Amino acid sequence: MTDTDALDRRLLDVALEAARRAGALLRDGRPEDLTVAATKTSPIDVVTEMDLAAEKLITGYLAEVRPDDGLLGEEGASREGTSGVRWVIDPLDGTVNYLYGLPSWSVSIAAERDGVAVAGVVEAPMRGETYHAVRGGGAFVNDRAARCRPAPQDFSQALIGTGFGYLTERRAAQAEVARQLLPQVRDIRRAGSAAIDLCDVGCGRLDGYYERGLNPWDRAAGVLFAREAGALAGGRPGSPAGDDLTVAGSPGLFEPLQALLEDLGAWHD
Ligand code: IPD
Ligand code: CA
Ligand code: CA
Ligand code: CA
Repeated sequence: MTDTDALDRRLLDVALEAARRAGALLRDGRPEDLTVAATKTSPIDVVTEMDLAAEKLITGYLAEVRPDDGLLGEEGASREGTSGVRWVIDPLDGTVNYLYGLPSWSVSIAAERDGVAVAGVVEAPMRGETYHAVRGGGAFVNDRAARCRPAPQDFSQALIGTGFGYLTERRAAQAEVARQLLPQVRDIRRAGSAAIDLCDVGCGRLDGYYERGLNPWDRAAGVLFAREAGALAGGRPGSPAGDDLTVAGSPGLFEPLQALLEDLGAWHD
């Protein structure tokens, strides 16, 4: 094992422990009367006290065990590190599901080394599943190797996940893309946690996934997991996954899905 492989394994262990602790806090500490604490980019972009508590727990743990690393967290964690490692954290992905008591929410933590995601964990306590991946080391669900599905014969047999960003002025355009896609595919799922959607592509539970407007913390761990499970992930054709578009899918489905989304203008407002 090279030194960098060993470092990536150590980063994975740190991510697993941080995600386990935050997942337990969110599962066991959810107040019965949980309410919206604040809104962010729009009135439907909500944050609860538990999003903030989970980020505090994760960043506190990282400060103890990896004090020289950088941080980027959805709820404001931001630190320039000196080690070349940066943690990209979504302390609670699927806040709206969590608020309503729906089970599809997760904790997503990725470690980047020199700007490249090398270890990622998505902890989904209500599914009883932890998804983890190390760059070049495969993807695992609860320690079972994960593999994406073989590509379906054509789109009519593809189950596609998606999500709708919280910028209200974009929502009609996103609905229009879904309206045009729906008659062409087996069905569409909007489960409410982008990190879980990406892991579902890696586990073969979705053929493909796309979303406009994700942030780095929504996708960093899930994209690594999907790729390590044999899926492809990117953005618009020829571009990396970005804030305009994130696409993932089995090889054979990924490029046609990117092309179809390009035709439908899925990155437009
Ligand atoms: C959201 C979820 C959702 C996706 C949104 C994200 P949050 O993250 O991943 O599935 O559609 O674009 O913002 O706010 O619950 O962490
Ligand atoms: Ca949020
Ligand atoms: Ca998120
Ligand atoms: Ca979040």
